[in-house]
Amino acid sequence: MKQRLYSLAAALVGLVLTTSAQSQPAITVPQLKKHGAATQLMVDGKPFLALAAELNNSSASSLSYMRPLWPRLAASHINTVLATVSWELVEPEEGRFDFTGVDGLLKDARANHLHLVFLWFGSWKNGKSNYQPLWVKTNQARFPLVQNELGKSLATLSALSDANRDADARAFAALMRHLREVDGKKHTVLMMQVENEVGVLDAPRDFSPAANQAFDGPVPKELMDYLQAHKDTLIPQLHRAWEANGFRTSGAWEKVFGKSIVNKEDWKALSYFTEEIFMAWNYARYIGHVAAAGKAEYNIPMYVNTWLKQENTGWPGAYPGGGPLPQVMDIWRAGAAPIDILSPDIYAPNFTEWCDWYTQSGNPLFIPEARGDARGAAHALWAFGKHDAIGFSPFGIDRTAGPDTELARAYDVMAQVAPLILEHQGKGTMTAVLLDSGGAAQTVTLGNYNLEARFTSRNFGVVTNAPPERVAGLFISTGPDDYVIVGRSMNVYFTAATNPSESVGLGTVEEGVYAGGKWIAGRRLNGDETPEWKALRFRGDNYTLQRVKLYRYH
Ligand code: DGJ
Repeated sequence: MKQRLYSLAAALVGLVLTTSAQSQPAITVPQLKKHGAATQLMVDGKPFLALAAELNNSSASSLSYMRPLWPRLAASHINTVLATVSWELVEPEEGRFDFTGVDGLLKDARANHLHLVFLWFGSWKNGKSNYQPLWVKTNQARFPLVQNELGKSLATLSALSDANRDADARAFAALMRHLREVDGKKHTVLMMQVENEVGVLDAPRDFSPAANQAFDGPVPKELMDYLQAHKDTLIPQLHRAWEANGFRTSGAWEKVFGKSIVNKEDWKALSYFTEEIFMAWNYARYIGHVAAAGKAEYNIPMYVNTWLKQENTGWPGAYPGGGPLPQVMDIWRAGAAPIDILSPDIYAPNFTEWCDWYTQSGNPLFIPEARGDARGAAHALWAFGKHDAIGFSPFGIDRTAGPDTELARAYDVMAQVAPLILEHQGKGTMTAVLLDSGGAAQTVTLGNYNLEARFTSRNFGVVTNAPPERVAGLFISTGPDDYVIVGRSMNVYFTAATNPSESVGLGTVEEGVYAGGKWIAGRRLNGDETPEWKALRFRGDNYTLQRVKLYRYH
């Protein structure tokens, strides 16, 4: 009888739990989701725009170093902090894990209403290996290093070692298991960066015995199958190398992709390309394995970041060979399916070209490192509006965090307009331009109108700092004759896209702010604030928002 009562009670408790679980919205961990043509980061069921910044490499290793920094970060209008978690601190002795630092970062980020992206500094950081624990560093027989052409070891763990890979994967899996346990419901951590700027520096490839054997052996069947299945959509450089060698479907690396041509004069030339393809495959396989081990514990989005090829740098050493650069993106897709995003760290002046290259074949844009000055702020706005970026994150925020920087003031405005940006990403109803001081005007067609943005340093009645040398304008079409525009140091003119013989007038122009996603109108603008009564004028000291309704006349 007693037993039956217990059973009945247990059934009733089960029923209550099930019912209450059913009435609660399901807890969804951070994930990527398609929104029209865009891919968005979903947090607690809603799209999220990461107005992020990255700490210096060592900052997050000390909670007391971080303590005074958190309020400054929060005051910078940042919503996400990119912080290092290093293998050496997480697993100081093999199999003994210590997550005290991770837990402290979670606690302090939450107290400051900030999200985190953790950077897993495991086997590699900037093409070298410095963050692996001492028990790994000192046991090179078990954990082999890359060798150069002369057989000399470099301070870089070899990607062709299962022992290296498995030890890294075990530690990463333990970290992800811990994050699921302590953050699986709170979602402070949004994404994981797996390793940091990988690739071989100071040699065209790994020449360790295992690497030589693999390089002389056949291109793995999985890679050959992938290339054949995606032949028509391969990135052009890879397609050309394969085509030049007769689209072979099997054979050694130099048979399938050719013997590399080395051109040290032209920095854009792909010297040692076959070696790069080979290393890309091996890094991708390794990191794909590490990421899969982590995702099996806690499945949140994961990305890898890239040291880009820089102008005027010598080779080898121009960039770590084998990282996810555009020319080997397909190799990374083939080898590292658990990685969701291939990310560029963009310090180079040709920012827009890199964004074009990193949005090829549907790669979502997340920029984990960049400049954080006025130029960086312009790039952030432009990337969100033009390329549906998921996030933007200047590097080294420790030095500059505070409420009155170019980045903080720009992020403040971007945070206001973020719900509208997210609504319009991937729909063809939003675009952006970059304008340079002294540079040409930019014209875009959006909806029923052409919008021409002209850089200006004139600001009636407003005392401004010197305008920055580069600014962005973001345009959102909210109705047939309606636009919301974020701009700075520019005038924006309109012409009819559908019937050019019609003149376009400014019906109403308002400045304003968004609060909680709602538009709060400020001044009604007209006269000197709307040059020639046909343009919107944006101040030079910061990004501001205007809403315009247009009309036509004959
Ligand atoms: C690129 C690296 O990925 C970062 O960790 C950092 O070292 C910066 N370079 C420094 O500029």
